[in-house]
Amino acid sequence: RRIDLLGIATAAGASVRGAGMGPEALRVAGLIEALVDLGHDVADFGDLRRPHTLPGTSPASWRLPDERRADVLDLAARSSDQGLDILKAGHFPVFLGGDHSIAMGTVSAVARHCADSGKPVFVLWIDAHADFNTPLTSPSGNLHGMPLALLCGEEEFGEEYRGPWLGRIDPKNVAVIGARSVDREERRLLTARGVETIDMRRIDEMGVVALMRGFLDKVRAAGGHLHVSLDVDAMDPSIAPGGGTLVPGGLSYREAHLIMEMLHDSGVVGSLDVVELNPFLDHGGKSATLLVDLVASLFGRQIMGEEPGPVAFVTEGE
Ligand code: ARG
Ligand code: MN
Ligand code: MN
Ligand code: MN
Repeated sequence: RRIDLLGIATAAGASVRGAGMGPEALRVAGLIEALVDLGHDVADFGDLRRPHTLPGTSPASWRLPDERRADVLDLAARSSDQGLDILKAGHFPVFLGGDHSIAMGTVSAVARHCADSGKPVFVLWIDAHADFNTPLTSPSGNLHGMPLALLCGEEEFGEEYRGPWLGRIDPKNVAVIGARSVDREERRLLTARGVETIDMRRIDEMGVVALMRGFLDKVRAAGGHLHVSLDVDAMDPSIAPGGGTLVPGGLSYREAHLIMEMLHDSGVVGSLDVVELNPFLDHGGKSATLLVDLVASLFGRQIMGEEPGPVAFVTEGE
């Protein structure tokens, strides 16, 4: 099954600039080579982006969240449509962020695709944050803190957020793992909607294996499509410093890899986001390299495995 890479080079949903450079840093860190080495065919569709400077805005200052909304929504619509094409072709989309607002489009693509086939969509949100704020609950106004709420059908989003590109998921099919920074109103919403929030305390008490098994069993029993959304800040800042919203006490190198290995073995993962990598804040490619290694684990790299590669690198259009 071919893997199709699509970059969404933007930081429009974040308060800090730099995540727009994420897709290129992941390529430089060897993402394509790692996947090819594992025996996968890979196609790279390049990056979606918006002009850096719009007429009448200053390039020197990062604009207000409201002024960046048009960028977020334009990219969401385009990544949703392009993601849908990739899924329809039977390929595995890997979306390279970009800040986490890109998931508005990427998860929409998955939801639209699965709505056609009647397959239930499950989402595993690997993140220090739950990204379940709405425009009314958000303390920051930044759209990277809101994609899950929009996708789960929260109604406090204006008309401009709706369109044929927007897909819909069931909050009861969503699990957030690695959470340790959840806003007060956001917490209330997560509980009310039945989102499974696997916070760091539960991970410390029960371990990632038992918690992941519970969730994966549910996906498998339902015959679902699992979308994985991996935020760099899920991992501990000591191993992943390249993010704009770091929180201490994150997933260890071993926990993160174990999650990826279990996801691989489950066989139910059908799409992936890799988001919030900020190469400007990273330390010499440390976080980019970690993310590439984690993606490799998700795609079958094993300590005692045998890598069949290298195979051909397919370019766009072939
Ligand atoms: N909860 C905070 C907010 O709503 C932080 C969200 C951070 N999200 C992220 N994708 N890094 O602004
Ligand atoms: Mn996030
Ligand atoms: Mn986060
Ligand atoms: Mn630093």
